[in-house]
Amino acid sequence: QTVTVVFGGPSAEHDISILTGLQCERVLQRAGAQVQCLYWDRGGRWHAVPAQTEARDYLDGAPAKAQRVELKIGAGADDGFQMKAGFRGTKTLDLGSVLLALHGGAGESGGTQALFELLGVPATGSSPAAAALGMDKLAFGALMADAGVPALRREIVSPDFRPSFDGPNIVKPRFGGSSIGIEVVEDYDTALALLKSSLHMRAGAVVEPYRDDLWDLNISFTTAPQFKTSLIEKPLRKEGGAIYDYAGKYMGGGADGMTSAPRELPAQIDPALEAQARELARQVQQLTGLTGINRLDFLTDGTDIYVNEVNSIPGAMALYLWPDEDPGRLLLAMVEEAKTANRRVP
Ligand code: DAL
Ligand code: MG
Repeated sequence: QTVTVVFGGPSAEHDISILTGLQCERVLQRAGAQVQCLYWDRGGRWHAVPAQTEARDYLDGAPAKAQRVELKIGAGADDGFQMKAGFRGTKTLDLGSVLLALHGGAGESGGTQALFELLGVPATGSSPAAAALGMDKLAFGALMADAGVPALRREIVSPDFRPSFDGPNIVKPRFGGSSIGIEVVEDYDTALALLKSSLHMRAGAVVEPYRDDLWDLNISFTTAPQFKTSLIEKPLRKEGGAIYDYAGKYMGGGADGMTSAPRELPAQIDPALEAQARELARQVQQLTGLTGINRLDFLTDGTDIYVNEVNSIPGAMALYLWPDEDPGRLLLAMVEEAKTANRRVP
């Protein structure tokens, strides 16, 4: 049966999603799966794209030979529940199952998850609600705090609230990803001003205490077919960088973008810290209900570890964190999970 890889999307992470999508296409193809690609462009239009395109084919939008398709939704004739829908161009695309490789925006925050759920098309990863929670840094932080999971204080940036801590602060778009739009500021008034001046903060922002003694650790977990955790990586920041930022993540200089960013893999850390990271991944999975392959990001000073954020559709699907696993098997297990998740409208 066909697996349709969906990537692109009208979000700030559009370009990274293309890299993730094309990588997933190749991995699935090598695993012997029947794969097709559905590209969602920056303007929200859908395109069926031919096999084996390259990232550079998308510089001016959809690649040559791509076929425009439209999402058509009508009332279901048979049972009254299932919407009758499809992606139609000159013919209707048979989607089979969908592998969601979208980052940010409606692609990762529950929108496409809900779309495919209503269409009755199995789509990889999390339920709409879990995906939304993973994308909302304020709600996710509140859930961690409520459950007693170690995390830095995270509060809303709003003229109606004052944070419970002083600067310097780190300000993040509430629903952002890939470190896009993140700023380190000296005081809360500067953070407030960002609500107006930063395009990325228009939908809201969160503030945390900024600590220059903390560094990043990342782990991936999957629930397909059962819960397990990956190797732990220590992303390496560029010299003098205040945070592990967009350039550090994707401009490592390698041909394959994100998977060539400088990192220590596995991270050389204290075994107690490693055990704690694995345990926290388990707790976060339970608290959020996130399924499929996710990446959990921590901050640590080498002794204490704090849950920072979770990515329900991680860059490169976090496959590089599983070097001892067959990547095709990891992706296909996620597709199988989606089929059995029974998240369909009755
Ligand atoms: N949001 C990006 C793709 C990540 O966290 O991997
Ligand atoms: Mg993220």
